[in-house]
Amino acid sequence: MAGRATNLALLVLLPAAAASGAATFLVGGGTVGLVVIAHGVLGLTLLVLVPWKSIIVRRGLRRRRADQLMSVILATGVVAALATGLAHSTGLLIGAAGVSALQVHVAAALLALVPLLVHVRHRRARVRRTDLSRRNLLRMGLLLGAGSASYGALEVIAAGLSLPGARRRASGSYERSSGKPDGMPTTSWLLDEIPSIDSASWRVSVRSGGVRREWSVAEIRAVGERTSAILDCTGGWWSRQEWSGVRLSTLLPPGATGSVEVTSATGYRRRLPLTDDLLLAVDVSGTPLSPEHGAPARLVVPGRRGYHWVKWVTRVEHDHRRWWVQVPFPLQ
Ligand code: HEM
Ligand code: HEM
Repeated sequence: MAGRATNLALLVLLPAAAASGAATFLVGGGTVGLVVIAHGVLGLTLLVLVPWKSIIVRRGLRRRRADQLMSVILATGVVAALATGLAHSTGLLIGAAGVSALQVHVAAALLALVPLLVHVRHRRARVRRTDLSRRNLLRMGLLLGAGSASYGALEVIAAGLSLPGARRRASGSYERSSGKPDGMPTTSWLLDEIPSIDSASWRVSVRSGGVRREWSVAEIRAVGERTSAILDCTGGWWSRQEWSGVRLSTLLPPGATGSVEVTSATGYRRRLPLTDDLLLAVDVSGTPLSPEHGAPARLVVPGRRGYHWVKWVTRVEHDHRRWWVQVPFPLQ
């Protein structure tokens, strides 16, 4: 493949890989499997381009340009993202020293986007009409075909060699300690830290239509509603547990529609639709939640990724705003 075509393919593939990667965190339920496959195919298509890009890189490095360091940082980020993506999906290295391969994967991918902008700005390839010619579209199709074939081959190899990767969920996550909450990893989104809360005096405030009411742990526990749900963390693990407490629909006026904003003692918050089967849990598998897992009460959101499962809940506010009008990923 010509150098120009290789670079243009990378220009499309790298942002597409990053966007589809982010989408694997956004969608839950049945669609996540399809998005994960699309992401894997895009990532592996990038890998297919390595032999062609190596020729450009060798030639470019000989020219000694001023911003070459940026190109090297970009290459390091992309190689790290590819290596950690594969380490996670095959299960050969899911994590080490308390850091998961997936955490490094996401960080490396996001960090690569800035040097990519610099790289492309200084090596501007003017888009020509022929770039969208049938021949080039066919080439892109063949490339994606090679990426898909690599994806299929990897899955077959993982199954054939019984690699841990063959046992991951459609979201790409690995099972951890289902039914035994003590063994569940303790992770938090970005900078959230475990607050110290006295369960006896703690109250959750629930507001709907101008009416506010406070609930204690004992009152919530007495309702005793339960659900068996999978917590699927974006750190790359999942765990099925029996959660019990009270459904938000029980705390709100009968037939309430719209959405709720659920806020943590740390200020962390998510808005969710009332069409979800939301449960405010105080117990997991019959024992009170631990502080790391959100004591005194955490939200259980079946079918959505872990960062929606707000821990240390202090406030639930019901209104009719559209639930998806919020930052896609919390900044805390
Ligand atoms: C996965 C993304 C990419 C990586 C890892 C990457 C990496 C590199 C490296 C390490 C070099 C050699 C050092 C240098 O010349 O600065 C290079 C050269 C170059 N890259 Fe990229 N690049 C990527 C994407 C792109 C894209 C999207 C374009 C353009 C649209 C592009 C255009 C070029 C050009 C024109 C050269 C210089 C070739 C020469 O001077 O002979 N690259 N790239
Ligand atoms: C530079 C951009 C990226 C590249 C090149 C890339 C590449 C890859 C590759 C090659 C895999 C292994 C695919 C497989 O064999 O199944 C992978 C897996 C994964 N990536 Fe990325 N990725 C990028 C960005 C992201 C981002 C930004 C996220 C999330 C925010 C993400 C989330 C994931 C997840 C969850 C998996 C595991 C999927 C599985 O187990 O099948 N990726 N990535």
